[in-house]
Amino acid sequence: MSNESNLHRVGIVGGDGIGPDVVAEGLKVIAAAGVELQMSHYDLGGDRYLRDGVVLDDATIEEWRELDALYFGAVGSLDVPPGLIERGLLLKMRFALDLYINQRPFVTESHDFVVIRENTEGTYAGEGGFLRKNTPEEIATQGSVNTRRGVERCVRYAFELAKTRRGHVTLVHKTNVLTFAGDLWERTFNEVAAEYPDIDTGYNHVDACCIYMVEDPGRFDVIVTDNLFGDIITDLGGAVSGGIGLASSANLHPGSVSMFEPVHGSAPDIVGMGKANPTAAVLSGALMLDHLGESDAADRIRAACGDPESLTGTTTEIGDAIVGRL
Ligand code: NAI
Ligand code: MG
Repeated sequence: MSNESNLHRVGIVGGDGIGPDVVAEGLKVIAAAGVELQMSHYDLGGDRYLRDGVVLDDATIEEWRELDALYFGAVGSLDVPPGLIERGLLLKMRFALDLYINQRPFVTESHDFVVIRENTEGTYAGEGGFLRKNTPEEIATQGSVNTRRGVERCVRYAFELAKTRRGHVTLVHKTNVLTFAGDLWERTFNEVAAEYPDIDTGYNHVDACCIYMVEDPGRFDVIVTDNLFGDIITDLGGAVSGGIGLASSANLHPGSVSMFEPVHGSAPDIVGMGKANPTAAVLSGALMLDHLGESDAADRIRAACGDPESLTGTTTEIGDAIVGRL
């Protein structure tokens, strides 16, 4: 892993639509915070696919394995069939690099919690299939894959993170109905919890979690949950804590190359208008700096993004304002 004494090798994927614009602001802020990156740029996304049919080849993935981090904007073009880029680029990368943690912080004046979502298993692992497809008797199944190893490494990461925060982890699942997957998660959670006597724990069913996230978010510090529940509750978390312009994320394989991106997409409705808020990309850059061992710079960037309502103007004006506050 890299540290202050060697250069951070980072792959840059601006992608489509507003992606390149917000990434440019993120890189501007990182440079202003005094962190030097050794960058390799990759032209990938829907526009590239439309040009020459390339989504993500295996040679590129092999190059990425030698990097410390990947910094993404957003991918997706109107003329590309839905799912093609998601599966062929984002999911392919996630599985190939085993980015098993999806981490999303939610911070405003009234919120400060982080969701740790398992990122490689559950109902998103691709288990299932059709029987008698396109007949009146058609059957579709979509199983949830939960391995002890996969659940444990995710839960363990959540407890380690809680040690650096307010010392509380909440498991979110639906153990009353999903009695097999939920049981594996609950047993694993309780066994790991026993190794962390100083960390307080809680449990919420996912539906109750949605109520608390709106009505009593202060109860949460670190939430750990499976892939599908995590996908859904992180969108809710974003909606109650500042919206899509602020939501940042990390796709992590701790100790190895990991990927950092704003939660939003390529926003074709506002592309080229200067309306894209770069704060989500800037905050994703701060998460990347944490991963690169540059936490001082990351904390300064987060502080500079504080009070986001006061950050107004065009994409570059907001980037400049954040730089000005550093
Ligand atoms: P979107 O996130 O691109 O846009 C949703 C709405 O939020 C739009 O009204 C947009 O203008 C607004 N918005 C998004 N980011 C913003 C920002 N930084 N500042 C201000 N407003 C912002 O989601 P949508 O429209 O569902 O998808 C558009 C394309 O992006 C699709 O091709 C989709 O597949 C792709 N996408 C890619 C993602 C990724 O790269 N990880 C994630 C989500 C969508
Ligand atoms: Mg989602």
